[in-house]
Amino acid sequence: MAIHTRENYWILETDRTAYAFGLDADGVLTHCYWGARLPYVDDYPAPPVVQVWASFNGPEHRRREEYPTPTGLKYVEPSFKAVYADGVRDTVLTFARAEVVDDATLHITLNDTHYPLTITLIYTVHPKYDLIERAVKVTNTGSDAIRLERAFSASWHIPAGMGWHLRHLTGKWFDEFQLTREPLTEGVKVLESRRITTSHHHNPFFTLDRDASESTGDVYFGALAWSGTWKLAAEIPAGFDTPRVSIGLNDWDFARVLNAGETFTTPSALAGYTDAGYTGASQCLHNYIRARVVPHPQHLRPVLYNAWEAAMFDFDAQKQMALAEIAAELGIELFVMDDGWFKGRYHDSAGLGDWTPDAQRFPEGLTPLIERVNTLGMDFGLWIEPEMVNPDSDLYRAHPDWVIHYATRARTEARNQLILNLARSDVQDYLINTLDALLSAHNIAFIKWDMNRNVSEPGWHDAPHDPRELWVRYVEGVYRVWGTLRERHPKVLWQSCSGGGGRADIGILRFADQIWVSDNTLATSRLNIQHGFSQLFPASVMEAWVTDGTWTPDHTVVPVSLEYRFHAAMCGVLGVGTNLFHLSDAEKRETRRWIDFYKNIRHIVQFGDQYRLADPRSGYAAVQYVDSEQRDGVLFAFRTFIADPALPLRFMLRGLDPQARYTVEGFDGVRSGKAWMHTPLEISLGNLQSTARRITRV
Ligand code: DGJ
Repeated sequence: MAIHTRENYWILETDRTAYAFGLDADGVLTHCYWGARLPYVDDYPAPPVVQVWASFNGPEHRRREEYPTPTGLKYVEPSFKAVYADGVRDTVLTFARAEVVDDATLHITLNDTHYPLTITLIYTVHPKYDLIERAVKVTNTGSDAIRLERAFSASWHIPAGMGWHLRHLTGKWFDEFQLTREPLTEGVKVLESRRITTSHHHNPFFTLDRDASESTGDVYFGALAWSGTWKLAAEIPAGFDTPRVSIGLNDWDFARVLNAGETFTTPSALAGYTDAGYTGASQCLHNYIRARVVPHPQHLRPVLYNAWEAAMFDFDAQKQMALAEIAAELGIELFVMDDGWFKGRYHDSAGLGDWTPDAQRFPEGLTPLIERVNTLGMDFGLWIEPEMVNPDSDLYRAHPDWVIHYATRARTEARNQLILNLARSDVQDYLINTLDALLSAHNIAFIKWDMNRNVSEPGWHDAPHDPRELWVRYVEGVYRVWGTLRERHPKVLWQSCSGGGGRADIGILRFADQIWVSDNTLATSRLNIQHGFSQLFPASVMEAWVTDGTWTPDHTVVPVSLEYRFHAAMCGVLGVGTNLFHLSDAEKRETRRWIDFYKNIRHIVQFGDQYRLADPRSGYAAVQYVDSEQRDGVLFAFRTFIADPALPLRFMLRGLDPQARYTVEGFDGVRSGKAWMHTPLEISLGNLQSTARRITRV
């Protein structure tokens, strides 16, 4: 049983942690404890007594309210804001009931003291993963409309005191998932997306620690399972030492109107505590995402080929078949045709929206190519960008009002495209029918779902709701289309791509098995991007390709060896994106050898535990993977770039069974796991050199 109750007090226990809250003397639902699991239920502290001690310093700065609403002398970030029919804008909640729904789910229901508003805080405990999941259900039980202006998923309180550091992922297109650590000081630090997708710029993920390292120390961490606009407010109320993180849908330009009897449920927020450092936090999230989120948890991810960087729009059926012949020789398992296969798509200014094969390139449709690919022993995958339309397309000519726009404003194009309004059910139905037909008519094993721009002029023509509901209803529409297609074609693997890593989040992973992390495929840049990505996401969802490295914005070629590029891409789900026509025989042999090597270790990389041994920004990157039985491991090490003179990479292995005995490729001896984990090892690498070492239990 993961949920324990004392009188008006609830304890959520995971295997190693506990989270407790209860009603304080004023009847306010108050956070009481989050940290290591304690031996007895009575160990958990009672709600603190909070006194008003000056008219300017009200109790609310000190109180750790589970779901703060704006009322009274409360100036902290509220989790919720609503406007009632008479214009009143504060919400005063009082406890109504608690219901233990099952072993792992607790509902706490709160009612407004005057208005017909019910808020149910939904807590789900994931004991094995040391995670607490929260969502909020809001119901209008009256007859007048209530307008929600903010509805966060959770407010997470971490232990009182100063000295906390916030780690988060920041970046931009071509440079996503840059890990940042900064002191959390008094005030509010806001991270957000206003772009209708999760965004390349920030990711709804955080950790908070005082003095943790990769392997040691207390870390609080969390993420939001949502693929649209979102907001994270990390706050220390000025003058007080009560840090908290509020997370949920972005309230910027947000509205959700609840008419009589209507309910709205927020996305889930997940969070946890570990005493095992940043790696401990990542492993809780990795294990949870792998086992409980992605659609095909057990599926070993295939090695794919994708010709986008090599061919772009310059191809036809014959060229794809010729590439497929070579790909098959190299050991590729999944042949993916990227952008450019559909009607009129010879460049990026036409065709999006018309999802039928281009008659010039594919006069007999896609079937001959797919059959050829299948005959060569590979599965076939296809690129689509369902949410988009080019003004130069049949779809746009037929339905110009289907895009997100304001009738009186110009429609700002990005990459010559506009966004279909997926908040509209007719647009959703159109996409479901069109894509279902495409999938039903062809033997397609994999779909890359792309999304190549962010929103502008966020208007909703003929909106049946408050037009600001667009932000949330759009994402609900994406989920409906994707979910319906997944239900109808359950075997298909999907990739979430948004011009690289613009839509990487736990919400989209309920539909997609893997994520295209970045359009930047330069191995040297990738190591850093992958380091950030791995904070939240497991290697099994991290698609990484070996490319020619020429597709940089300034088209500079970076001279990095094929070995180095393979090693970097093998840290996730390996793909190849090189121009196969340009490979020499020797390069083909080498490519085949690395693909074979990867097939032997991919179960360790994709399903094992990951340990980051060196941060790429230190001059070296090193990542180790160990399978769940602690039998086999693999270590990848890279010298990123250090001007001479350089010290060797120094590290200790992790995650081995201390009593078992192992060999480590490149090092002498058979030694216990404990010995390998307590003896510093050294690897010498020249600039832009790398190595892969097998770790084997004997
Ligand atoms: C952006 C993606 O990130 C690329 O991999 C490629 O699919 C292009 N779009 C195609 O337009």
